[in-house]
Amino acid sequence: MNAQVSQNPLSSVPDRVSLYEVSPRDGLQNENATVPLSGKVRLIDALVAAGLERIEITSFVSPKWIPQLADADELTRVLRERPLHDVRLSALCPNPKGLDRAKKADIKEIAVFVSASETHNKKNVNKTIDQTLCAFEETIGPAREAGMSVRGYVSTVWGCPYEGDVAPERSIAIAKKLFDMGCYQISFGDTIGAGTPRLTRDIVMRALDTLPLAAIAMHMHDTRGAALANILVGLELGIRHFDASVGGLGGCPYAPGAAGNVATEDLVYMLHGMGVGTGVDLERLVEAARAAESIVGRKLPGKVHQAGIRSLRA
Ligand code: HMG
Ligand code: MG
Repeated sequence: MNAQVSQNPLSSVPDRVSLYEVSPRDGLQNENATVPLSGKVRLIDALVAAGLERIEITSFVSPKWIPQLADADELTRVLRERPLHDVRLSALCPNPKGLDRAKKADIKEIAVFVSASETHNKKNVNKTIDQTLCAFEETIGPAREAGMSVRGYVSTVWGCPYEGDVAPERSIAIAKKLFDMGCYQISFGDTIGAGTPRLTRDIVMRALDTLPLAAIAMHMHDTRGAALANILVGLELGIRHFDASVGGLGGCPYAPGAAGNVATEDLVYMLHGMGVGTGVDLERLVEAARAAESIVGRKLPGKVHQAGIRSLRA
């Protein structure tokens, strides 16, 4: 065996990672038919029952832009009455108006979002990147003063549906700004699932040179089937925080052709098989994926909930 082969990169994977579930937000924002409030609550209950501890439940954005999540205020009111134990609920929030809504909803965590490419950012939030970051000055600081945690997203890091390739240094510079403004963690988004492992390695290594390890998360859409391969690269490089969406629900209404995030059950299956803990019960997660299918009324792309996990032992 030569030296290169004996240095097994998979030997360095962590014992445990943290998952950030985005299906109620990223998943449902992209459904053609609006899911009723009761369906959203059912989905969130199923995710909690599976052991997910961080869930992005909705967006406090303009209901004209994202009508699917127009019931955000009501949803958070209903969830306050549910037994959610220690689950950390978060919601997307683009501006001070969204922050006011989040405060009234008693949400403890918000997530701000900006793209690394101008065209996607303009289409998504009707502002330039600089204007968006300016609006965040009035959102992140006041949120922190109100005792909230703030997460940040940088979208289109692996490519933009309008501009094509995006220079990694652009994304990293924006991520650093978000971190310096008070975001505790930056989620690097492959919004259109364009990434492949070599590019992922480059982006993650640059991120590691700029930000603390715990401040880096990966948000990989699976449009081209490479999300798990990219996550594996991140895992080997030490990343501990991954976004995922049960059943593979998701997409971005302002990124044509974007499919769902990596399916949570596929990610958990891979991680558990590698001895990496997640705190999630895979059987109950598969039930949550099936519940998600029944809630949206269509088959979802996640693989493990279709194949089942028991067949392995048959
Ligand atoms: P705008 O039209 O430029 O906003 O939209 P405005 O400030 O001019 O206000 C226009 C109207 O919207 C006003 O109401 C405001 O009050 C209202 P009117 O006077 O016309 O009745 N408004 C709001 N209403 C409720 N909540 C608010 C809010 N703000 C203004 N927070 C805006 C600007 C940012 C609001 C709009 O573009 C928007 O809501 N965009 C959201 C788009 C979105 O949610 N995209 C999907 C999420 S991003 C994503 O999926 C990527 C991610 O998953 C990572 C990845 O995959 O890479 C995160
Ligand atoms: Mg997304």
